[in-house]
Amino acid sequence: MSSWSHRHLLGISQLSKGDILHVLDAAERWFSLTREEAKHARVLQGRTVVNLFFESSTRTRTSFEVAGKRLGADVVNVSPQTSSVTKGETLLDTVRNLEALRADAIVLRHPASGAPDHVAAQTHTSIVNAGDGAHEHPTQGLLDAFTIRRKKGRIEGLVVAICGDILHSRVARSNALLRGALGAEVRLCGPRTLVPRHAETLGPTVRVFTRIEDAIEGADVVMALRIQNERLSGAMLASTREYARTFGLNAAVLARAKGDAIVMHPGPINRGVEIDPRLADGDRSVILDQVEAGVAVRMAVLDSVVRAGDVYRGRGAA
Ligand code: CP
Repeated sequence: MSSWSHRHLLGISQLSKGDILHVLDAAERWFSLTREEAKHARVLQGRTVVNLFFESSTRTRTSFEVAGKRLGADVVNVSPQTSSVTKGETLLDTVRNLEALRADAIVLRHPASGAPDHVAAQTHTSIVNAGDGAHEHPTQGLLDAFTIRRKKGRIEGLVVAICGDILHSRVARSNALLRGALGAEVRLCGPRTLVPRHAETLGPTVRVFTRIEDAIEGADVVMALRIQNERLSGAMLASTREYARTFGLNAAVLARAKGDAIVMHPGPINRGVEIDPRLADGDRSVILDQVEAGVAVRMAVLDSVVRAGDVYRGRGAA
């Protein structure tokens, strides 16, 4: 197995192919454990993991908490709404105070792109990016890769179509970077107003489409993304109904993909908008497999960054 030397996980863009495979392979071992009756290891016993989420979350926050506890760590959830952030304390001061409490890792979700990078440069505590603005969501990209590899047996050579609000999607960005690094063809598809300019520069295998039917043609993996209404501005979208009619994933559209194509969605789902509920709940959906994979992948990430943090702080060997 390749060595891992990152004391922070800030984005897929910082990872080599070897780093990505390190996480996926480690997650396989944790995945087996999470299916046993006694799901606990002690590798992070005595360590402290803090969840610091400035945006709402169900899957990511909960699975980091479950992952930390299954590794034996103490996990603390800090809610900015009830913390001294409401009194004007800055993000950096908040992180420094958590560091003073001897947190080994801080899992940070923040609406500002680059927030995890900003604080990581100024703390000895490991920072794990749990989603920053429209920038990156690296553990989502990793758990999606883990799910694809388990379902398809490989990632290299697959055609992965990602459809929806690409412009605001940190999931799309991390997925495009990661799939490209592992040799999949990545097709990004959405209305012109919801695809960033130069999106194809995310990787040599990335192509951009503005018709979902074209993007899905012959795909092995189809991932629908939510319209991020909280980040939309101006006239980016005519109407939700119009979007569902032209970009919604339904059975007729999915028929263009390979017969064994899998259907993915990072959640939360807006049923009947970006995806027909019958597909979300259907035989080809792996949406809840993605959620299950999130725990094993986040166990692998927490274990890896804390060990690398120990080496950085001179506490022990990797
Ligand atoms: N996929 C994802 O990030 O979901 P949550 O916002 O619920 O964490």
